[in-house]
Amino acid sequence: MRVVTVEQSFGLENLGVKEREIPSPRAGEVLVRVGAASLNYRDLLMVRGLYNPKQKLPLIPCSDGAGVVSAVGEGVTRFRVGDRVMPTFAQGWLAGEPSREKLMATTLGGPLDGMLCEYRALHESGLVAVPEHLDLEQAATLPCAGLTAWRALFDHGGLLPGQWVLVQGTGGVSVFALQFAKQMGAKVIATTSSNDKAERLRAMGADLVINYRETPNWSKPARDATGGRGVDVIVEVGGAGTLEQSLRAIKMGGRVSLIGVLAGGSGEISLFPVLMQDVRVQGVIVGSREHFEQMCRAISASKMVPVVDKVFALEHTIEAMQHMAAGAHFGKVVIKVQ
Ligand SMILES: NC(=O)c1ccc[n+]([C@@H]2O[C@H](COP(=O)([O-])OP(=O)(O)OC[C@H]3O[C@@H](n4cnc5c(N)ncnc54)[C@H](OP(=O)(O)O)[C@@H]3O)[C@@H](O)[C@H]2O)c1
Repeated sequence: MRVVTVEQSFGLENLGVKEREIPSPRAGEVLVRVGAASLNYRDLLMVRGLYNPKQKLPLIPCSDGAGVVSAVGEGVTRFRVGDRVMPTFAQGWLAGEPSREKLMATTLGGPLDGMLCEYRALHESGLVAVPEHLDLEQAATLPCAGLTAWRALFDHGGLLPGQWVLVQGTGGVSVFALQFAKQMGAKVIATTSSNDKAERLRAMGADLVINYRETPNWSKPARDATGGRGVDVIVEVGGAGTLEQSLRAIKMGGRVSLIGVLAGGSGEISLFPVLMQDVRVQGVIVGSREHFEQMCRAISASKMVPVVDKVFALEHTIEAMQHMAAGAHFGKVVIKVQ
């Protein structure tokens, strides 16, 4: 089978297609014939050696994918040959609160091999059924980006219909958050650096779009849009570079779901707006299998379809990563595996 690996040392230039034996599923495992994988910013950092410089190589990158069960090991009861499945981001986090044991050593695409391979044997407990209306390329976008957006809004954000949400940029997580929020009847403010992407955000139902390059003080129009009250839930993917604006835009008692650090992972930020406004700043780390199944039920009920920006062939994984690194995408970048 073909696999994509980072072989001897980190770096996009060291990604290459290799041949490996197809694994045999052991007791409790399912062999998945992988149809598609999708990229997350984390995968890029992992390949570059910036996410975990101690990551052992070679590594098959990409936490996210979807495929069809092609064989099952002894004792498997959750799935049958022919079922369409997606892996959970953290194979060991099935339900309940996260813990180091459930998460740290069990995430795909580092430290464990990921989904950029034609076949992957995984324990049946680390798989979730694909919503029926989605194809494998669409489903491959759900495990990390989709679930993170879902938890940011509903699990941690406690979003209610009619409330205001702010999403930053047009990457995978933010576009999912826009879709989920609109579907549940929330009002959405979206920021972007691109006027072309702004049009697409409006077409998807964003109530207000702000170009964060042209309007670096975007918290002002955002707050104005809410009648001065402030935004209820902010999906914070910028991190240190955007948090100050988020804390100006948030309402008293609002929730900032801290997901990413696209605009910086550290910096000097005044904490007074957090305490003076009774704001909850909550970190989000993807979600458990239970969360994933909950999200899939909602996606099936609403027939929501993820936004796939572009599909690359497996042998063009480097170009796909570069496409994402350039921020040229809108939604998810997918790799067709076979
Ligand atoms: N905690 C978790 O569990 C978790 C899960 C998934 C992702 N993440 C993190 O969340 C972040 C987003 O992930 P992703 O996969 O959605 O990334 P992505 O698809 O690579 O997002 C890239 C987009 O982010 C926007 N962006 C960049 N800098 C920005 C800024 N200063 N203000 C507003 N938008 C900005 C840009 O949108 P425009 O082109 O429209 O300007 C860019 O195209 C990353 O840091 C990732 O590591 C964390």
